Amino acid sequence: MTLKTLYLLLLLCAYVLTIPTLSLATAAYPTVPGTDAADCSLSDGHISLTPTRREVYGNGRIFDISHRLRTDMPAFDSSEGVGQFLWLPKSMKNGSIANSSEMKLPAHTGTHVDAPGHVFDHYFDAGFDVDTLDLEVLNGPGLLVDVPRDKNITAEVMKSLNIPKGVRRVLFRTVNTDKRLMFKKEFDSSYTGFMRDGAKWLVENTDVKLVGVDYLSVAAYDDLIPAHLVFLEGRVRKSLMNHAEIILVEGLKLDDIQLGIYSIHCLPLRLKGAEGSPIRCILIK
Ligand SMILES: *[C@@H]1O[C@H](CO)[C@@H](O)[C@H](O)[C@H]1NC(C)=O
Ligand SMILES: *[C@@H]1O[C@H](CO)[C@@H](O)[C@H](O)[C@H]1NC(C)=O
Ligand SMILES: *[C@@H]1O[C@H](CO)[C@@H](O)[C@H](O)[C@H]1NC(C)=O
Repeated sequence: MTLKTLYLLLLLCAYVLTIPTLSLATAAYPTVPGTDAADCSLSDGHISLTPTRREVYGNGRIFDISHRLRTDMPAFDSSEGVGQFLWLPKSMKNGSIANSSEMKLPAHTGTHVDAPGHVFDHYFDAGFDVDTLDLEVLNGPGLLVDVPRDKNITAEVMKSLNIPKGVRRVLFRTVNTDKRLMFKKEFDSSYTGFMRDGAKWLVENTDVKLVGVDYLSVAAYDDLIPAHLVFLEGRVRKSLMNHAEIILVEGLKLDDIQLGIYSIHCLPLRLKGAEGSPIRCILIK
């Protein structure tokens, strides 16, 4: 390493370490594994550069609410976790001019979005894939609410939340977050989710079009398909009437975030033909 490079690296390290949001990011997320402050140390004249992994950006204004994809994150109905999803078929160590990875993972892995084709075969055949989801629904102001810890999300629970008319995006934080279910490899079918009547209540009594939850399915295990059907069935009829559709975002990371109003931003991949996609979601204060 030339002196000039070393000098630049040192400058970078000094700069990174003085950014106040870094310590804030770590302090605000005491419990998210893999979140470290930058580590720049000099030994034997070599810089050891460790990248910073952050949960909060922009002076505590921007929160990443997507889970980092990990081999040991839970997969639906499995005790094995997601497993290996990344390979390095072309590597510089093997003589390639660059490192180039490949990935293979179920479309409903980690923080992800469901398209209507997930539970409706005729929607799947008609092409209602993740590429057809409305970015306007996926981006805009919304609420983070806590739901009662001792029940699934029933009509009664929905009613008790008193979500004001006009609110179009709601992220529901449940006991799943307290139990840290998304950090456990083994799938837990006792997770909290919507019961059919809770989904129906939301569809009929609120203006909510973006529903976000903190485990792999918006619907409780016992009402898995019925609750999904209620949320996703209105697609064609409503879009003909030029109403926005309901979009389901699952597996959100809502740890350590204060309740309240945020600007929600979620972007799925444009996977033509896929009924689900990993999604990156952030909240901006
Ligand atoms: C290098 O190539 C060999 C054989 O093609 C493969 O088994 C190995 O995983 C590669 N190593 C890396 C680091 O990509
Ligand atoms: C390329 O991949 C190798 C593993 O084969 C890794 O050790 C090396 O750090 C990578 N290089 C770059 C520039 O990322
Ligand atoms: C929610 O429903 C699941 C089954 O889908 C059940 O195992 C769990 O105990 C319920 N949670 C609560 C808090 O009642």
